[in-house]
Amino acid sequence: MPVVLDARPAPGDLVAASRSSLGLEPADLVISNASIVDVWRGLIIDHADVAIKGRIVSCVGRCRRSRGLYTKEIDAGGKILAPGFIDPHTHIESTFLRPAEFSKAVLSRGTTAVFADPHEIANVAGLRGVDYMARELESSPLKVFLLAPPNVPASLTPPDRGGAVIEYQEILNNLDRFSGVGEVMDTGSLLEGSKAFLEYSSRLSMSWIIQGHAAGLGGEDLDAYASLGITNDHEVTSWEELSERLSKGVIPIVRYGSSWRDLERLYRAIDLFPHIVPMATDDIHCLHIAREGHMDRAVRRAIELGVDPVRAIMSATIAPSILYGLHRWIGSIAPGRYADLLVIEDLERVSIKEVYVDGTLVAREYRYLGQEDHKIVEDSTIMRSVKVAGQPTIDLRLPRGCREAVLRAIRPLHGTTLTREERVRLDCSSRISDHGLTYIAVVNRYGGNHSYTGVGVDIPIEGALASSVAHDSHNIIVVGSSLEDMAAALNAVIEAGGGVAFTHRSRIEALVELSIAGLMSSKDYHEVVSDLERLFRSLRDHGSEDPEALLQEIQLLSLTVIPEIRITDRGLYRVSERKIVDLVIQII
Ligand SMILES: [Fe+2]
Repeated sequence: MPVVLDARPAPGDLVAASRSSLGLEPADLVISNASIVDVWRGLIIDHADVAIKGRIVSCVGRCRRSRGLYTKEIDAGGKILAPGFIDPHTHIESTFLRPAEFSKAVLSRGTTAVFADPHEIANVAGLRGVDYMARELESSPLKVFLLAPPNVPASLTPPDRGGAVIEYQEILNNLDRFSGVGEVMDTGSLLEGSKAFLEYSSRLSMSWIIQGHAAGLGGEDLDAYASLGITNDHEVTSWEELSERLSKGVIPIVRYGSSWRDLERLYRAIDLFPHIVPMATDDIHCLHIAREGHMDRAVRRAIELGVDPVRAIMSATIAPSILYGLHRWIGSIAPGRYADLLVIEDLERVSIKEVYVDGTLVAREYRYLGQEDHKIVEDSTIMRSVKVAGQPTIDLRLPRGCREAVLRAIRPLHGTTLTREERVRLDCSSRISDHGLTYIAVVNRYGGNHSYTGVGVDIPIEGALASSVAHDSHNIIVVGSSLEDMAAALNAVIEAGGGVAFTHRSRIEALVELSIAGLMSSKDYHEVVSDLERLFRSLRDHGSEDPEALLQEIQLLSLTVIPEIRITDRGLYRVSERKIVDLVIQII
């Protein structure tokens, strides 16, 4: 199935399934002697059969009438049969995989449907980038609900510029090309009471279920957000926030991705409300998918934290389908639903033996069995789109003759997405690494001749790391202890047409090529996994204790919608006041 625009099966599919249940047509497949996870009642039905006609489940229980001469029968030998997992909120670009490779990666881990917000590529290439995503997914069995990205750029008055601006009207005109609406994240415009934003958001919620992004909102501010018809939120980080949202009918989505691990704190909600509260990945890179899994990783972690296994599965199946009003077609093993099924050997460890989509086996033992599509959709605006004008200057712009200066610096608050503004004193002629500081530079990658260099505190790096993934504008961000290493890392990223490069003593130690929009690799899933492994190993060898967190932290230093201070290609930006501020506070 290509991108899902209409989740409903054809009427003929349902007629055939119904006739099969009546014994008028044989089922195509019967999986017998299974222990079925009943996500409606929250229990396991032992010694049961599941009959499948075409793409649809036609019978659950004792399927005596379904069997015919040509019905294939598989004895499950008492193994668990669960619905395919559904990820209700994710960004495919964050895996570093192109969409076709992403679908193979997650299908092999038991995820059979995703709600994908193509917000990152939309910031680089507008709706043309989204079209590219859709075309790459055309031949995949994964059910992808591709969502319209409603806030590109993230706010109405961005301090920096990405590769695209999508006007409200453009989204409204194109809504029927999508299968939903992605995250409405411009809470700044909400709090200002922007008439344009309020009217736009309410019109979106008339058409589709919007994905919420109510980071930090509470009380009447949250009410203002929910009043627009936005009734779910995946930015919930504390129990208090979760509880307030539930009481106001805003469904909290609990994240378990690469960095966002709200599940660690909020797992009790899965046990208490498994029909209502879904889990999601939001952002997860492919190394985590390969090593630990996708939604199966979240289910496994919930079980480890003490959640009942059936309830953990409910949160990854029936809860997301109810959230989007699609429980008639996906999210459970029940008559009339698509036959998206998982054969699980060990329930507690969520060890998946086989994955079926629409009644067809697509993965076994974590190996994708579907067709291998190596063809990349060519689009000159997407491929090798990183364009840096001239030779950008990476250096602090300090006044001539300066001997000592007090500067504004950015301190990332580890383990969160927040930063803090700090004052540092500097001897102008010394290297900043002598002061325990780091350079941070942002270089425009859309052909504009802008770059800016600032100072970071407590960003432990020996050498330099450059990345063309830098939220949300995705200019190139470079962080390093020496200007020479930074220039080398920047050049490596430019030459690769996008990517993440780590340099030490001007030598390229590791490079993850991301030449598709500067966000995704043109390589196969397992090659990208190896590239990431090499990058993290190399960083670790050069003293980084938590290289994965370091990379994530660096990629967020330019995200101008999260407090307190950020850096863009135009300068330092203080988020609360929404204004560019000077690097130099005082010259001594
Ligand atoms: Fe998100």
